[in-house]
Amino acid sequence: MSPTPKPGILDIAPYVPGRASAPGVAKPLKLSANENPFGCSDAARQAYLRAVNEIHLYPDANTSLLRAAVAEHFKLEPERLVFGAGSDEVFAMATQAYLREGDNVVQPQFGFAAWAIAARAAGGEVNVAPERDYVVDVDAMLAAVDDRTRVMFLANPANPTGTWLPFSEIARLHARLPPHILLVLDGAYAECAGDVAGFSDGLDWVRDKNNVLVTRTFSKAYGLAALRVGWGYGPAPVIAAFDRIRLPFSVTRAGEAAAAAALSDQGFVARSAEHFAVERVRLAEALRALGLKTLPSATNFVTALFDRAPVPAQATYEMLAREGILVRWLKNYGMENALRISIGRSEETTRVIDAMTRALAQ
Ligand SMILES: Cc1ncc(COP(=O)(O)O)c(C=O)c1O
Repeated sequence: MSPTPKPGILDIAPYVPGRASAPGVAKPLKLSANENPFGCSDAARQAYLRAVNEIHLYPDANTSLLRAAVAEHFKLEPERLVFGAGSDEVFAMATQAYLREGDNVVQPQFGFAAWAIAARAAGGEVNVAPERDYVVDVDAMLAAVDDRTRVMFLANPANPTGTWLPFSEIARLHARLPPHILLVLDGAYAECAGDVAGFSDGLDWVRDKNNVLVTRTFSKAYGLAALRVGWGYGPAPVIAAFDRIRLPFSVTRAGEAAAAAALSDQGFVARSAEHFAVERVRLAEALRALGLKTLPSATNFVTALFDRAPVPAQATYEMLAREGILVRWLKNYGMENALRISIGRSEETTRVIDAMTRALAQ
């Protein structure tokens, strides 16, 4: 006899992180996890270094410094915020707090993998809504709701596709969603989409909604992925439920200090976002010139479909890895013939384009 996990736990497919190493390559070019190629704000780095003198102390369980900074910057009520070890932890709070055994979450076909893990870990199931041309289909999302649905996840813009919905579509979805269902609007890439027509991060709109939680992260445009800091803004009763179950110290002192400093350096975020907006167009155009189809992107990555390419996605992925370029093959998202390429520095994007040109010529 040995301890047996709860039913369903061993059926969960573990999260597959972006590839980080290539055999025989000392320092690969990692474009597999949508990290910020410019690192992070110098202010954040300095704050992190200063925190070294405090690593014997527990973090502030209320994340007060960062709470005040986020509330001030985004004009939000501090008591309606929750912080976690990345937005991943906030998703888990939502499923733990709202799913009973056999309840379900609704998510789009190409939803971010961590949501389903959080749902299943909480004893829930996942209802998947088909997308239309790799774009979330609001009507299909509503059609996937049943009487056991408690949470709906939606990222805008989305990963792994990069596509987005105009905010009017999200408002339409919400208007037709039963009010007992918690709508989680995952804005992990919101900073990258600021210039996109019709896009909104929803933070203003959500203020008077009783069943919407917006999540954000410091991992992407802010460049603090290693520190694991994410947050959510939701109705007071939802945050009160989270406050009963969350781990007290999941945001570290150094992470909190660095994130607060990063927030104060909006120049860094704006420069990064501008770079992503320009370079995602350049990369997509180059990939289309090679015969690939690219999905419209409002993020810091481009997803390319190899349906009519002379070489399949997997073989291209492996050829790139042999050259020390790591991108994401989307097989585990059910997109076997697609690669997702993070936007690097300009010279890195040029290197990817050159390598792809060679790979596809073979
Ligand atoms: C759509 C989406 N949401 C959330 C996250 C997770 O971010 P965090 O680092 O805050 O856990 C990611 C990371 O890849 C993502 O792509």
